[in-house]
Amino acid sequence: MKRLMFKLGILCMSMMFCTCQATTNLHPLILVPGNGGNQLEARLTRGYKPSSLLCHWYPIVKQKGGWFRLWFDPGVLLAPFTQCFADRMTLFYDKDLDDYRNAPGVETRVLHFGSTQSLLYLDPNLKRATAYMAPLVESLEEIGYVSGETLFGAPYDFRYGLAAEGHPSKVGSKFLQDLKDLVEKASRINGGKPVIIVSHSLGGLFVLQLLNKNPLSWRRKYIKHFVAISTPWGGTVEQMSTFASGNTLGVPFVDPLLVREEQRTSESNLWLLPCAKVFGETKLVITPNATYSAHEITQFLNDIGFSRGVYPYTTRILPLTEQLIAPEVPITCMVGSGVRTPETLFYRENGFDEQPDVVYGDGDGTVNMASLLALEKFWAKEKNQALKIIRIGGISHTSILQNGSALAEITGEIYSINSHVTISVV
Ligand SMILES: *[C@@H]1O[C@H](CO)[C@@H](O)[C@H](O)[C@H]1NC(C)=O
Ligand SMILES: *[C@@H]1O[C@H](CO)[C@@H](O)[C@H](O)[C@H]1NC(C)=O
Repeated sequence: MKRLMFKLGILCMSMMFCTCQATTNLHPLILVPGNGGNQLEARLTRGYKPSSLLCHWYPIVKQKGGWFRLWFDPGVLLAPFTQCFADRMTLFYDKDLDDYRNAPGVETRVLHFGSTQSLLYLDPNLKRATAYMAPLVESLEEIGYVSGETLFGAPYDFRYGLAAEGHPSKVGSKFLQDLKDLVEKASRINGGKPVIIVSHSLGGLFVLQLLNKNPLSWRRKYIKHFVAISTPWGGTVEQMSTFASGNTLGVPFVDPLLVREEQRTSESNLWLLPCAKVFGETKLVITPNATYSAHEITQFLNDIGFSRGVYPYTTRILPLTEQLIAPEVPITCMVGSGVRTPETLFYRENGFDEQPDVVYGDGDGTVNMASLLALEKFWAKEKNQALKIIRIGGISHTSILQNGSALAEITGEIYSINSHVTISVV
């Protein structure tokens, strides 16, 4: 027995250093990206109403069937085209359907479900500038993962969210079903080994829903571990600023007000608004007229001029964010910390068209610490929930997928999850 353990130790060591040799002992792994974390394609049909003549023609070059890349296309950073982009990304809440749908005349699709292909780069022609999960995938390949064999990707239309019980969410629910099928397939082609799911940001909220919507027996059979990177379990304060005054997508010369309307229509953005369970009574937005905590999001949506969002928010989203149920499969939360993160937003007399003054607190630059660490607090008394938190100092919401030492932490954790099995088999 001792000898065997020793041999296994050597095997582990050699797996760590000999990256040339793929190992068949790995648990299959599925990557679930965050908001905006995979490519989306669109095509325009007869019902499309261009907001300007330019949009009628843009983009000039299209693929077979009229498809073009909607996300991400750097062309839309030029002011005249930003509006075309915003119109096409806009979702509508349809009261009769009680569901969200695309803008009229805009069809969208997600390519390569099951593969990592569409989440490596947001624009494959601009690999350096738009690399998303490519560095993580490379690191996973170094420990022996092989795309299509042991490594899979679950891209989705990240504008759509999920809805509380009793409300349809056609696009989000289909994604959850596809993800479930992918988990089963990945396990099946790997000799029945349970799967490791690795998510980034919004992806983690979808994965928790997937787990909790399926019976414990399914989870035990198919899920080895859930590694949740940078998950905003209770939303972010920054999201209130996106709703109030728009978000430049990190690009300095994009006018945030041009994309604000579109950003407000995204169902997943509503899902990322701060929830009271995590932020409590803390005043998050302060104006000369009012103050808003996470309890007052409804009032906030009204006051910023987005009363259309109130109904879907209160019926579909709020009940969803209020429950964070322990799925009883082992979870590791990997979070960046020590980065200035918006914590309180101050708007002046001129209202919400001006960008706010911001007071910063701790977090990963996007998600507040309280939200990143929410599970630790909520699940402290859950006996059957294995939960490990790994904090990585000085690492932001996006650099966690880019920075060499952060990637080493992630692959190290995945490596160790795989090694547990070897030992328990002994
Ligand atoms: C405060 O109220 C005034 C008067 O109704 C209005 O003009 C102003 O835009 C409001 N400001 C904010 C930040 O809500
Ligand atoms: C990774 O992040 C750490 C912490 O911020 C920093 O010290 C280090 O230089 C970064 N490494 C690379 C390769 O960027």
